[in-house]
Amino acid sequence: MYGKLPFYISIVTLFLLPLIVFYLIPQLGFFPFSPSLPPPISPSDERSDLDLLRRASSSSKPYSSHLSSNSRSPKIAFLFLTNTQLHFSPLWQSFFHSSKASPSSPRFNVYVHSSPSLNLTFRPSSVFYGRVIASKATYRASPTLISATRRLIAHAILHDPANQYFALVSQHCVPLHSFDYVYNSLFKSTSFDLTDDDKVSAKIGVKLRFRSYIEVLDQSKNHWKRYTARGRYAMEPEVPYEKFRVGSQFFIITRKHAYSVVRDRKLWAKFRVPCYWEYDCYPEEHYFPTLLDMEDPKGVTKYTLTRVNWTGTVEGHPYTYSASEVSPQLIHDLRKSNYSASYLFARKFAPNCLEPLMKIAISVIFQD
Ligand SMILES: *[C@@H]1O[C@H](CO)[C@@H](O)[C@H](O)[C@H]1NC(C)=O
Ligand SMILES: *[C@@H]1O[C@H](CO)[C@@H](O)[C@H](O)[C@H]1NC(C)=O
Ligand SMILES: *[C@@H]1O[C@H](CO)[C@@H](O)[C@H](O)[C@H]1NC(C)=O
Repeated sequence: MYGKLPFYISIVTLFLLPLIVFYLIPQLGFFPFSPSLPPPISPSDERSDLDLLRRASSSSKPYSSHLSSNSRSPKIAFLFLTNTQLHFSPLWQSFFHSSKASPSSPRFNVYVHSSPSLNLTFRPSSVFYGRVIASKATYRASPTLISATRRLIAHAILHDPANQYFALVSQHCVPLHSFDYVYNSLFKSTSFDLTDDDKVSAKIGVKLRFRSYIEVLDQSKNHWKRYTARGRYAMEPEVPYEKFRVGSQFFIITRKHAYSVVRDRKLWAKFRVPCYWEYDCYPEEHYFPTLLDMEDPKGVTKYTLTRVNWTGTVEGHPYTYSASEVSPQLIHDLRKSNYSASYLFARKFAPNCLEPLMKIAISVIFQD
């Protein structure tokens, strides 16, 4: 009778082993299988971020749904997320200078999150001068890109209550229009957003509704694999599969949604868990669309204003334009959108595009 016991034990162990290896060990934070995975977020980084997010979420909330009736001009916070030099800073500089509004009361603020190992320095005359926030290293296939974005948003909330739209861009992004075009599209135009069915605004010609421009899709290639990248039940119950969304990493969100982002602890507790392996692991493409679509589905347009070319994608990277491809025609082609009057930004551009882009900046890009 006792002779069978070792047999049962070995059977049970056989079934438990995969569970331990594939579920429990990753839950505990050990990753014996994929040495290429970036390090998890350290407790001290987590603590300092939490402190910043708390300060931002408890700051006063001068958010108005009727921005145009505000006495102070609302501003756009430009959040630059980079882990290299900002190759296109001269182009962005002329973008900001293209504004016809008085330079003494700019309608934008600039914030830069860069890799701490880079010593980003700008001339005192640059709009980027002194705008690099306290940053930490970021890695692909890790939640650090979410952390960096939340840091930028928190800084922008705390720094200026006039920041009413928050535009996230990277070092590979370029503007497709003048600053005034971007500003009017976001704050004034009642015809810019082709998906907006707000008849009242259209009728009176005054924009009353302000939505976030963030891509929100409920399907993607390998959606299930992306959902289970941290373990089969890792996202439950806070993020059921039906609520799991995907979208472009780059977005323009309202101050209301910026608060949603800095307030969130529930979804972050899920998304901060590292993946088992680097494949199908793109936390930053899921966290923001999932969070905002769960909280305020009617407040998001579900499309992005940053054009990206996914044809011929390599290892999760979109197509990168090089200098020889830059032309007025390319700018006109990249603007074309099915959802809005135009795209506002585009990516990715190789650093050598700066010169040809500067050549057509005044005559083409900022000419509208
Ligand atoms: C960063 O650059 C500035 C100006 O070039 C220099 O004074 C400073 O020592 C540099 N810091 C580091 C950490 O390299
Ligand atoms: C997108 O990239 C492909 C190369 O993968 C290129 O042939 C095509 O012209 C690009 N589309 C646009 C609109 O630039
Ligand atoms: C717009 O929609 C058409 C038809 O679905 C599609 O062929 C085209 O690629 C879309 N354009 C853009 C810029 O996404």
